[in-house]
Amino acid sequence: MCGIIGYVGGRPCRELILTGLERLEYRGYDSSGFALLDEAQGVAESVRAVGNLGELRAAAGANGGSTSTCGLGHTRWATHGRVTEANAHPHASADGSVLVVMNGIIENYGELRQELQDAGVVFASETDTEVVPQLIAREYAGDLAAAVRAVLPKLGGHFAFVAAHVAEPGRLVAVRRECPLVIGVGASERFVASAIPAFLRETRDVVLIDNDEVVVLEADDHTIWAGAERLPARRAERVEWDEDAAEKGGYETFMLKEIHEQPAALWDTIGDRMRPDGSVELPGLGLDDATLARVERIHVVACGTSYHAGLVGRYLIEDWARVPVHVEVASEYRYRTCLAGPGDLVLGITQSGETADTLAAMRVARERGAHVVAVTNIMGSQATRDSDGVLYTRAGLEIGVAATKTHTAQVMALSLLALKLGRLRWALTPAGALDLAEELRRIPELLETYLASPAPAQVLEAAAAYADRPFFLYLGRHVGVPVCFEGALKLKEISYIPTEAYPAGEMKHGPIALLDEGSPVVVVATDGHVFDKVVSNIQEVRARGARVIAVATEGNEEISRHAEDVLWAPRTPALLSPITSVVPLQLFAYGLARARGLNVDQPRNLAKTVTVE
Ligand code: AGP
Repeated sequence: MCGIIGYVGGRPCRELILTGLERLEYRGYDSSGFALLDEAQGVAESVRAVGNLGELRAAAGANGGSTSTCGLGHTRWATHGRVTEANAHPHASADGSVLVVMNGIIENYGELRQELQDAGVVFASETDTEVVPQLIAREYAGDLAAAVRAVLPKLGGHFAFVAAHVAEPGRLVAVRRECPLVIGVGASERFVASAIPAFLRETRDVVLIDNDEVVVLEADDHTIWAGAERLPARRAERVEWDEDAAEKGGYETFMLKEIHEQPAALWDTIGDRMRPDGSVELPGLGLDDATLARVERIHVVACGTSYHAGLVGRYLIEDWARVPVHVEVASEYRYRTCLAGPGDLVLGITQSGETADTLAAMRVARERGAHVVAVTNIMGSQATRDSDGVLYTRAGLEIGVAATKTHTAQVMALSLLALKLGRLRWALTPAGALDLAEELRRIPELLETYLASPAPAQVLEAAAAYADRPFFLYLGRHVGVPVCFEGALKLKEISYIPTEAYPAGEMKHGPIALLDEGSPVVVVATDGHVFDKVVSNIQEVRARGARVIAVATEGNEEISRHAEDVLWAPRTPALLSPITSVVPLQLFAYGLARARGLNVDQPRNLAKTVTVE
């Protein structure tokens, strides 16, 4: 949560900071701010505003010839303290000498604040962050880096921050502990930010920072410190990302663009991992094939949309590989008695690789001796550092807060793992595995054809007709259940309409009481062995006056007799249908939110990466 950026170099940096913040806005957007430093004035400009970056730009006004070449900025997702200008970053020490922007949480800020207040320090905000500049100012004796190093051991929690001192306007000091922070190395300039897109236009040379390292940034140099020890210079890595990935590329929103990028995300996730004979190579798992074949149980820990991908994965792994799979939301798993151990494989699914609950659940399992694999989309993310192996999704950068292409890529990655396990354990015959491999390989193309057809526009139009409905029930069976969960989550997230998602067979045990004349019920009714059962459930809800919106397999004309609206999904084998049938539901949620005039890329109260508990 929250995006931070800093710049020090030879160029006037006001616009660099504002543009960088715009690239980080997906991380939080309830308020924002920036400060610029120079020799003459110390703080040359400092602006904060409630609202998104547009509000900050409006508050800041025109450039006015700013010449500052050092600055820092922040876009916030509130954790401690309401959404007010006073709580927006940068935060300053009481004497105004130290400025800080921070992402994350100082868990012991209560006691630190009390100690400082007892010593007479006056606070200007309700945030946990403010203790950081206050502490640094008290430690400062002419060397900002030394003051930060002295303060760091006092801070509990997980955070990344950038600090500046008015007496050192050509220097920034940055720290990370379990929250992302990367350095961008340019010609006579340095960037530091929560994520690479913040400076991708300016430089592609990136240096990664480890936990509790202190980085001192100056225009021509950066040094990295672990405590009092200066570490050897670290080579920059070149990032080959597509710059357009951070732009909308002609689409009205990032979310719509990312929905349309799903075929490419799936192709790339399969990539070179599948051999012509259908065998699968996943070299990053950190397990040899013989050990993998002997895995006794699999635990999946994840949150939100990634959890839903895990639920789909359970059907695939149990069916193809016959390994029992336990899937749990990470925020619960981390606090239960963990029974994972040696012989178990734990998959931590997290597109960002930074979700605090998922990281904690992975850590708990690892401490118990389980082999932990991160299924993530972000190279070098914390999840990759906290695991024994990595299975990358290759969805490319996802900006929309509502996950779309990373979800289907996660399901594809889990399908590859299930196929590999099935072959290794001889639960699948080579011929059976080859058939499945071929079906998997077809999916990106099927989806590409679907997305280029009139079907998506039809879904958007159908959705708009429901824009005034106050509640939706989602039903499905078997692999349709996690698809329902995901479809309902998408609708909640971006349209703010309450939804319930249930296994259709559970409906009669309670949720059916919610239905009334005209209640919209979305039913995942794709082809498979439970299709007839799902049709029976459709009859039951229609008998109560509900209006059915069915997601059905292309070519299944029977469904039209049972539903008011049909959202078609490309035909695949039943177990693979979650990859394709979730797409019409993404579009349905999108169409509804758009019809309600909402900002789908920045839904209220949410952030793309959830680095707090
Ligand atoms: C998805 O639309 C949501 N924004 C959210 O549920 C997300 O999937 C969840 O926070 C987990 O994120 P992660 O995959 O980065 O761990």
